[in-house]
Amino acid sequence: MDKFVIEGGRRLCGRVKVSGAKNGSLALMPATILAPGTYHLANTPNLRDVWTMSRLITCLGAFCELNDNELFIDSRELNSYEAPYEHVKNMRASFYVLGPLLARFGKARVSLPGGCAWGPRPVDLHIKGMERLGAEITLENGYVVASARNGKLTGARINLEISSVGATGNILMAATLAKGRTLISNAATEPEITALARFLMKMGAKIDGIGTAILEIEGVDELHPADEITIPDRIEAATFLIAAAATGGNIELDDCNPYHLTSVIAILEEAGCVLDVNSNSISLEATAIKPVDITTAIYPGIPTDIQPQWTALMTKANGNAKVADPIYKDRFKHIPELVRLGANIDVIEHTAFVRGGEALSGATVMSSDLRAGAAMVIAALMAEGTSEVLRIYHIDRGYEEFEKKLTGIGANIKRVKTDLI
Ligand code: EPZ
Repeated sequence: MDKFVIEGGRRLCGRVKVSGAKNGSLALMPATILAPGTYHLANTPNLRDVWTMSRLITCLGAFCELNDNELFIDSRELNSYEAPYEHVKNMRASFYVLGPLLARFGKARVSLPGGCAWGPRPVDLHIKGMERLGAEITLENGYVVASARNGKLTGARINLEISSVGATGNILMAATLAKGRTLISNAATEPEITALARFLMKMGAKIDGIGTAILEIEGVDELHPADEITIPDRIEAATFLIAAAATGGNIELDDCNPYHLTSVIAILEEAGCVLDVNSNSISLEATAIKPVDITTAIYPGIPTDIQPQWTALMTKANGNAKVADPIYKDRFKHIPELVRLGANIDVIEHTAFVRGGEALSGATVMSSDLRAGAAMVIAALMAEGTSEVLRIYHIDRGYEEFEKKLTGIGANIKRVKTDLI
């Protein structure tokens, strides 16, 4: 097991290169199941969730190799339609292979994903979407067992009660090879889904409404491989901007897409930071932090994936702030850990009430999930003295070279082996 040992109180100053988007890669990789062939996915981040998805696709019979952010997949020998529990349990996004397997083989047997740290995360919208496309689905021993009537899915009109990112991606991929037309209403418009749709178009899919909440797909008989460059990671970018704001720093982010960060840029400016936004870079100069209430929302609203990080920042604000997360009502496991560092926060009815201005002081804290872990690091960077952040395997899931990038802009952070879990 590893932990981070962090000496707080240092300003983050300098330049950071943003990596490819974890959630972008996790959408593109299952799409390579749809058409046998070789694929080159550039700007793929070298992190645990990508390795997990690679292992899953390999166990289906394909070949995956990641060299210096260049991911090569050969899906010609892919011959299994079963995604086993030992793989899916490690990462919920593994469930995104359901639609592509159904589309390619006319059947699929995919383990239900495990719950997530902040409560159950259902997949009912994924299943309902596949049923609307003509799949017969049963739940057997923890697996979703699906088969397309007559071996081929049929286009349908589908309304998503919640504009789920994963369900949109799963249904979109399945629909590309369905017979006839599919219309997905209330589709997710997250940049990672838009990028997936564009990749599928490169593969020969016929999709209208890309980037909007209404996707129209004309099914085709077959697709062909294509190459793609993964979009920049907007959540990593936001995490570094918030860390710079939290430490009174001054950073410049390179290779990011500011258009994917409009809501985050707006609240950082509202909090008093000075930002300079260019076509593929953002610089931030921190000032005294003002309290800013946030409520997470689907894109282009404030992403739930920056909620823990923002909560950490608000502990420094010169006033009180409310942080609400209606996307994940239980995503507050980081609050008790922030309180261990001296924060003054109460959670009432799925909203965190942060009383800012209390100086944090070093302590040993735990990461309960990926973004909570990032919030712990931000808080430790703010805190006076030494902090230890445990269970950083969560952080390694979604941040490439996290401590190296932070060290490069002045943080005192070391990765250390520990028996503490
Ligand atoms: C994606 O998860 C991201 N993961 C998450 O990022 C992100 O937090 C989430 O979208 C919301 O933006 C990947 O892209 C790999 P959802 P996903 O389906 O697809 C409910 C990170 O830190 N829902 O959009 O699983 C669900 O419970 C991760 O990088 C259903 O009710 O999220 C939640 O309340 C964490 N039924 C809401 O929809 C379903 O069938 C949004 O979930 C599916 C979802």
